[in-house]
Amino acid sequence: MRVAMIGTGYVGLVSGACFSEFGHTVMCVDKDQSKIDALKRGEIPIFEPGLDEVVATSVKSGRLSFSTDLGPAVKNADAVFIAVGTPSRRGDGHADLTYVFQAAEEIARSLDGYTVVVTKSTVPVGTGQRVQDTIRAARPDADFDVASNPEFLREGSAIEDFRRPDRIVVGTESERARQILRELYRPLYLNETPILFTSRESSELIKYAANAFLATKITFINEMADLCEKVGANVQDVARGIGLDGRIGSKFLHAGPGYGGSCFPKDTLALLRTGEEVGAPTKIVTAVQQVNEERKVRMAEKIDAAFGGVKGKTIAVLGLTFKPNTDDMRDSPSLVIVPWLQEHGAKVRAFDPEGMKEARKHLKFDECEDTESTLKDADGVVILTEWNEFRALDMARTKQLLKTPLMVDLRNIYRPDEMAKAGFTYVSVGRRTVTPV
Ligand code: UGA
Repeated sequence: MRVAMIGTGYVGLVSGACFSEFGHTVMCVDKDQSKIDALKRGEIPIFEPGLDEVVATSVKSGRLSFSTDLGPAVKNADAVFIAVGTPSRRGDGHADLTYVFQAAEEIARSLDGYTVVVTKSTVPVGTGQRVQDTIRAARPDADFDVASNPEFLREGSAIEDFRRPDRIVVGTESERARQILRELYRPLYLNETPILFTSRESSELIKYAANAFLATKITFINEMADLCEKVGANVQDVARGIGLDGRIGSKFLHAGPGYGGSCFPKDTLALLRTGEEVGAPTKIVTAVQQVNEERKVRMAEKIDAAFGGVKGKTIAVLGLTFKPNTDDMRDSPSLVIVPWLQEHGAKVRAFDPEGMKEARKHLKFDECEDTESTLKDADGVVILTEWNEFRALDMARTKQLLKTPLMVDLRNIYRPDEMAKAGFTYVSVGRRTVTPV
């Protein structure tokens, strides 16, 4: 199959590279000349484990190429994927579909022979229909269908998620379109990945419902964590105790500083806006969104309390990205927490294994080169992201480096009893605070 992938962000680049790994011929198109030039030189614009290898192998095999020229890519394609960004629109939180419709208009101009146009970007219900209308208006003669095929990959494990998804969802009423998408995903039949065919509207909503449900799960356990702190319970035990119930499931029950990233915050907001618009308000999602926003400030206050007031203190921050194994800073809790600490008189020094370049664009702080230099002479350390290299700190050394043996661990990566033994005052999420024994 020949594929044109419009947009080389996370979803576009990973999907394009993985489709070519499946044996299809893929051309990835982006308007950004410098990005395409870099990709042609073999440089990957984002940090995503394993992506560089898949891209290099696919390029070498001749099945993956990059271009700024959408026309020829679309003309030759059996399937054209729209994988452009759908950020939150400023002011109202609706998904901004400008890039989607721009792409649809450009695609329309170059369609040649039967083609399936597939929206892979996360788009509100009804967008597929509007894309179809846009293309039809521009090219009444064109032979095409518009299908929805949302992507469920996570940053940091995107390649694995694409190769071994829990399911593939395809929304279309057209049998021809189904055939092409079935063919595209054929390699996944080997590992018996379920492929779910639905209407376009259901498929579009499945994506939002999945993200909103996961965001709800996280927010629920975060509230349980607050409750645990008040009543002397341990949120990890509670999560395990409920997660072993197959109806609940153990995943996405890690309490922390609130969810961030390029998807949950924007998608919950867009979903609740859709609900308001169509007169079916999603009260649960609305609450989730609010609780999560407030949580980031609560976490800064928690740090303030742990330090006995951050004014005049030097705070070592480990981790700035919204999760490990990415350099993505979008909606990261650190974007609220770090400025809050600074506004309240703290000096913040920080280190992130991959996120420094991105962090610099959004935050001002004392940049450190590694964990040791971050810890040195600080009044305490705060763990904001659970990177592997922060999971196995030498506590004796950490204690030596810090002025005060104080750790606020917002990702619960250490055990309170061990931290007390190591001589720390240790504050975590939804577990008891311990002091040195
Ligand atoms: C999320 C979904 O998990 C993907 O299925 C989806 O495809 C993607 O959004 C998207 O719509 O593109 P992602 O944002 O990359 O993926 O990362 P997650 O691993 O889901 O984490 C999101 C946030 O939730 C992070 O801030 C993470 O720290 C937080 N989280 C996650 C928790 O606080 N606790 C958990 O138990 C799990």
